[in-house]
Amino acid sequence: MTQVLLLDGLRRVDATTPVVRADDLGVLRGESVFETARIAAGRAVFLDAHLRRLAASAERLDIALPRGWEALAEAACQGKDDGVLRLVCTKGPPPLGFAVVTDVPEETLRAREHGVRVMTLTLGVTALQRAEAPWLLGGVKSTSYAVNMATLRYAHDEGADDAIWVSSDGEVLEAPTATVAIVRDGVLFTPPSSVGILAGTTLQGVLDLERVPATVRRIPAAELHEADEVMLLSSVRGVAPVTALDGRELGIGPVTKDLREAFEASLS
Ligand SMILES: Cc1ncc(COP(=O)(O)O)c(C=O)c1O
Repeated sequence: MTQVLLLDGLRRVDATTPVVRADDLGVLRGESVFETARIAAGRAVFLDAHLRRLAASAERLDIALPRGWEALAEAACQGKDDGVLRLVCTKGPPPLGFAVVTDVPEETLRAREHGVRVMTLTLGVTALQRAEAPWLLGGVKSTSYAVNMATLRYAHDEGADDAIWVSSDGEVLEAPTATVAIVRDGVLFTPPSSVGILAGTTLQGVLDLERVPATVRRIPAAELHEADEVMLLSSVRGVAPVTALDGRELGIGPVTKDLREAFEASLS
């Protein structure tokens, strides 16, 4: 069941009630920011990190972020054992903040357990392009996710569950809704945010567990194709094994399995 709470006064509204104005720049120009967090045991997981990223995204979009997000998240998650919390702030003017709470989709639970089959697709920019051109909004979590969704639709049409974006000069970037990590000879590698990708809260949570040696560095696509294990990391799916990449069967490797178990256990 979907629940909606407004930042202003922590007012609960029916999910079918319109809350955003038609002339809001979030609607007209896609100028809104958002965060998606996992709800576990009645709390939003890594809330501080999500709120820091929300604030950084808002600054990049020149959105005057209102206050009160901790209280909004707390009220929205109350009594919910497991679920998805979305925090959204439109540009307005005036900016409008709200929370949407939903159940975890079956498809997400399946991906967490059984993994995803993935294809690589180009993002059409060089690895450093987005860092050099801040107007391309690399690392910003705005609601302008139409390209991300179109990428997923394309992958689905091609028979894959998900995609990994590769830069035009052949480096691993990220997935449309997840961070990418690979394992080679027992070491985890993941690309740095300097290639214009979102700094993942799940990746940080997994690295903080210190269960595997890890190196953050740029990854040529050839290394992705030779990796022993590949995984997608994101708030709600958690650690999702990539079981096939561009048709190469990978299965679920021991490092991915261990990280997934340890990560899930750390949330309870
Ligand atoms: C483009 C992109 N990269 C990475 C991530 C992973 O971020 P997090 O682990 O904070 O959910 C997401 C999450 O939605 C995303 O949309």
